[in-house]
Amino acid sequence: MPIKLGIIGYGGMAGWHHANAVKVPGVEVVAAYDIDPERVKAAKEKGLRGYDTLEAFLKDDEVNLALVATPNDVHRELVCAALEAGKHTICEKPVSMSLAELDTMIAAAKKNGRLFSVHQNRRWDTDFQIAKEIIKSGKLGKVYAVQSRLHGSGGAMHGWRSELKHGGGMLLDWGVHFIDQAFQICGYDDLRSVTCHTANVKTGEVEDYFNLVFDRKSGGYYQIEIGTFVLKELPRWMILGDEGTAYINNFSRSGAYVTLNSTIENEPEIVMTAAGPTRTFAPRPVEVKVEHELPDPQAKWTEYYANILDVIEGKAELIVQPWQVRKTMAAIFAAFESAKTGKLIELD
Ligand SMILES: NC(=O)c1ccc[n+]([C@@H]2O[C@H](COP(=O)([O-])OP(=O)(O)OC[C@H]3O[C@@H](n4cnc5c(N)ncnc54)[C@H](O)[C@@H]3O)[C@@H](O)[C@H]2O)c1
Repeated sequence: MPIKLGIIGYGGMAGWHHANAVKVPGVEVVAAYDIDPERVKAAKEKGLRGYDTLEAFLKDDEVNLALVATPNDVHRELVCAALEAGKHTICEKPVSMSLAELDTMIAAAKKNGRLFSVHQNRRWDTDFQIAKEIIKSGKLGKVYAVQSRLHGSGGAMHGWRSELKHGGGMLLDWGVHFIDQAFQICGYDDLRSVTCHTANVKTGEVEDYFNLVFDRKSGGYYQIEIGTFVLKELPRWMILGDEGTAYINNFSRSGAYVTLNSTIENEPEIVMTAAGPTRTFAPRPVEVKVEHELPDPQAKWTEYYANILDVIEGKAELIVQPWQVRKTMAAIFAAFESAKTGKLIELD
């Protein structure tokens, strides 16, 4: 059965879905609803049936999959309304502003026997795919530190993202992606606890910077740092293992992983620095270190909608499962609690 997608909230991200979901064979975008008449007009101009009431949209029987792409504070009511109307439903991230809201959505999906998923699209990012592959390959030996980082210099967050009541702030906006990636890399039983620090650097009401550290049961830590006002960027990823180090730059395949050349004997010698002698931090001669090309995974985001189609047709399991999203959201709310109390918070 082909997907006839109807979009609730025809704003910036909806336009992206409209342009890209149709690249998947079997997916057609047919309708949109928005509270803003200008956005309804824009949807009509793009050839969609445009609705200015939720009721009229939900009565559109051709729509068999609804996408909720509104600000975060109204996700729950719109997802539940779509599920109650018998539509399979996808919600944009972050799915909710509390675990109770998410549980209501999961219950509505179960009650109505409909698919419910969340658009955790950064599982298909090239840099993430490379990081996951290189960690799993063992090429770095035992990994004791994963640093997942995004530095920008734009400063303040904009529009509804800068307001608490709409679910703004960086932990919910981008943290949700990077924590989802952390679970995908470490597995869903490995993250033991979180400590988090937040700062409102350029945005009044909400955090536009955070740094959090998950302690891993399997050893080592997984750090996520996102800042909107950092004028000297560090690499998107630093991955430290006992046999090598990888660095990966933003959203790309640029970077490398570095190991020691096993054919060269090299015992570090003491060198003099302005502050005194050191052996541990003496630079290694260049020939001792070998830079390797990063792997080249071929994952494509279109798999997201292809999977939704397959699940509706009973041919596959959902890739982005609600229980996984719940683990991610629980970790976000634990991070908020840590930032507020200054304490380490255990994860379930
Ligand atoms: N997955 C990603 O990479 C990604 C990227 C950007 C945004 N998003 C998510 O998409 C969602 C929308 O973000 P955006 O950037 O498109 O915002 P936006 O402000 O550009 O668009 C939101 C649209 O929703 C409409 N709207 C608001 N309240 C509504 C309601 N009650 N009913 C119907 N329509 C309503 C607005 O009029 C607007 O047209 C957010 O949850 C955001 O976090 C995800």
